[in-house]
Amino acid sequence: WEHRFSLTIIFHFGLCLFPLYSSEKCTKMFDYQELLHNSTFCLVPRGRRLGSFRFLEALQAACIPVILSNGWELPFSEVIDWRKAAIIGDERLLLQVPSITRSVGRDRILALRQQTQFLWDAYFSSVAKIVLTTLEIIQDRVDSLISRNRLLWNSLPGGLYALPQYSTDAAQFPFYYALLGKSPSQQFTAVIHMVTPLQSQISPVVKLIIAVAKSKFCAQIVVLWNCDKPLPPRNKWPSTSVPLTVIEGQTKTMSSRFFPHDAIITDAVLSLDEDSVLSTNEVDFAFTVWQSFPERIVGYPARSHYWDSSRSRWGYTSKWTNEYSMVLTGAAFYHRYYHYLFTHYIPASLLTMVDRIANCEDILMNFLVSAVTKQPPIKVTQKKQYKETMMTQVSSRWADPDHFAQRQSCMNAFSHWLGFMPLVHSQMRLDPVLFRDQVSILRKKYRDIERL
Ligand SMILES: *[C@@H]1O[C@H](CO)[C@@H](O)[C@H](O)[C@H]1NC(C)=O
Repeated sequence: WEHRFSLTIIFHFGLCLFPLYSSEKCTKMFDYQELLHNSTFCLVPRGRRLGSFRFLEALQAACIPVILSNGWELPFSEVIDWRKAAIIGDERLLLQVPSITRSVGRDRILALRQQTQFLWDAYFSSVAKIVLTTLEIIQDRVDSLISRNRLLWNSLPGGLYALPQYSTDAAQFPFYYALLGKSPSQQFTAVIHMVTPLQSQISPVVKLIIAVAKSKFCAQIVVLWNCDKPLPPRNKWPSTSVPLTVIEGQTKTMSSRFFPHDAIITDAVLSLDEDSVLSTNEVDFAFTVWQSFPERIVGYPARSHYWDSSRSRWGYTSKWTNEYSMVLTGAAFYHRYYHYLFTHYIPASLLTMVDRIANCEDILMNFLVSAVTKQPPIKVTQKKQYKETMMTQVSSRWADPDHFAQRQSCMNAFSHWLGFMPLVHSQMRLDPVLFRDQVSILRKKYRDIERL
């Protein structure tokens, strides 16, 4: 990098101190973009004024800005800690710059570069983000009681995704557990979304409630009654050892299944469709996996996206392959903050779309969580028969041929909103230790995952 560094110095000082005026000369010698990307440090001397657009160019290219513009207030310095992403030099001590930069260790270089990428992506990568960041900073000033602290602004996923109306305490968000040395709660709330009437004591939802309630991590069960039929009386519901609360949906819309109900008091939510088939073992295992990945969606049925080049659009597939990029919310754990973010961050137009077609709310949740974390969800092992059971139990909405076509359109509407495709493919599947090993079933912790 020493070589690259000296090249950049020559570039900025000898040839192109003012690329605006001498750009022709520069482009002949080097490709400017490539040179930025090749460089570890980029000098940012004052331009015609104190600031210089070279600062943002360097930031974007993961080239650590070395700022030589005494008295320049860096952008959003009220909330951004620039010392984590840039080297702030003194323009009067220009000749010390080479030795200052040489003394920066490899680890710090990596950390600085990573921070340039985070800050660029979170606050500067589009005019919309710059405007939004400005407005949110003003909001923080106006209502200082619910303003974001520096930790929220300066660590992933950044202030725009950590809504202070939800909490101003970093420990309430799933992203900062590792940073704060906190572990997520030991219990979960199962939220069962019901759209069909409760038929009998042997209906699948009753079995589901009983299986979930037996989990040692289950704090309570919340049933969201989004069905047009009247609420069944109390004695029709199975009796469980954990509290069972039935909330009658006010709007009975698809998007309301992710409403941040006050009844959800645990960090973890186990989101369930009424026809999901899960055993207590599966619930326990998935929850222990979620505790290790509290910022992601962890669950059972997985789906994938792909680029359909013949139609120049994103496609959605339920084919069983080794890869997946979504985990359906019919049987998945995630942090309750995502209910808040889903309800308050996603534009009303998309929520209305989801409600109108009564479809895609699960895809939208996956888009949201992957946009925030930049990571794929996590698939956990499932019973062999899960696939078949899911197929026979398909409720009317899955049998509808339009259903699949709608899901394709949703993929494109959602990525258009974000301006990029946030979903990330993964091939990882987590199985319990000794899963399908030649070991007596009695010695295994999650026995019924393989026995059924
Ligand atoms: C950037 O680095 C690559 C690989 O080391 C090299 O081939 C290329 O010439 C460099 N470009 C510039 C403009 O220095």
